[in-house]
Amino acid sequence: MHSSDLQTVAIKLAERSYHIAIRGSLFDNPLSYAELPNAHSVLIVTNTTVGPLYAERLQRALSGKYPRIHTVVLPDGEVFKTWESLNLIFDALLSHGCDRKTLLFALGGGVVGDMAGFAAASFMRGVPFVQVPTTLLAQVDSSVGGKTAINHPLGKNMIGAFYQPLKVVCDLDTLKTLPARELSAGLAEVIKYGPIADMDFLAWLEANMDAVLAREPAALAHVVKRSCEIKADVVGQDERESGLRAILNFGHTFGHAIEAGLGYGEWLHGEAVGCGMVMAAHLSQRLGLVDAFFVNRLVHLIQKAGLPIKAPSLSDADNAGRYLELMRLDKKSEAGEIKFVVIEQPGRAAVHGAPDDVVRKVIDACCVA
Ligand code: NAD
Ligand code: GLY
Repeated sequence: MHSSDLQTVAIKLAERSYHIAIRGSLFDNPLSYAELPNAHSVLIVTNTTVGPLYAERLQRALSGKYPRIHTVVLPDGEVFKTWESLNLIFDALLSHGCDRKTLLFALGGGVVGDMAGFAAASFMRGVPFVQVPTTLLAQVDSSVGGKTAINHPLGKNMIGAFYQPLKVVCDLDTLKTLPARELSAGLAEVIKYGPIADMDFLAWLEANMDAVLAREPAALAHVVKRSCEIKADVVGQDERESGLRAILNFGHTFGHAIEAGLGYGEWLHGEAVGCGMVMAAHLSQRLGLVDAFFVNRLVHLIQKAGLPIKAPSLSDADNAGRYLELMRLDKKSEAGEIKFVVIEQPGRAAVHGAPDDVVRKVIDACCVA
């Protein structure tokens, strides 16, 4: 694949279908937005880090089509994925006299995308929105598939909606300014697609991780396209997570416990997911589903991507108990029983329960002493 070719991935959801466009030089090109509906006004939702880098160029690209372009700049960080930040978007929409046709543009990473998407889902009971993801994590996962949410102090992404964008514009050039730690965090959600769906992709990542970390354009283009294809396939079969879509949460049950237990923002979401995948792989092995060779291979790749592979201790008194307590709040839990995404065989995942004593052993083995 040549990195200068425009790649598109279709999300097929009947009347909610849309395209993901992938290439460099996209987000500030008016043609990227040509097919979008007309409106009197648009609101760009961004944050204090991404706004200064990219908001003006997006405004310019939209200015030929939309008469009034407003911008709201949110505080940056997972810790600000809250009602208060969400309200800043509603404040901007209402104070600028926005209406039902106003388009929202989510310009930023997954935090901005999830919040702008939730605002779009609920403002006037739903206005159209476009995702312009600027982190690797957002390009390969969060901007695609319509999950939107904010956090609650008692649980991550607990308040939200399924709401699909009109389009996703993945501009690979925006990844040039991404800090290395954030690139690695995004790679957790990339690596995830291997064990759950495509072991050939896992092998490709093993062979090409250095090129990806060096941000070689062709390598990034392949990573984003293949990840979006796999996600599109899953979401196309199960938009609202009544079954299959849960496999996309591989590593997330443990990972969300790490994020909530340490306090949001202490570890990056992708770091927690990477370590959560290590734990979920060990659980799969203890349940007799995969062998040590598979687990070691996955752990090695996660480490190679620059991600932590040892989980943090969340309590001096009863660490495993604290993990279990936090994981019972996971959205997949049913009547207090924690459900885990496990690897049934390399390339295939499913949701399973697991006895507490087995989970405790996994936590004890995976946490720092
Ligand atoms: P993020 O949005 O916090 O972005 C990471 C950091 O990079 C931030 O400081 C941001 O300001 C900065 N940044 C963004 N783009 C940049 C750029 N091009 N150059 C320089 N800095 C840039 O984090 P994230 O990893 O993108 O997203 C994590 C969030 O996504 C979590 O809240 C998670 O719950 C959510 N998520 C949602 C879904 C979904 O399906 N909706 C899936 C996975 C993750
Ligand atoms: N990131 C998990 C999902 O979109 O379902």
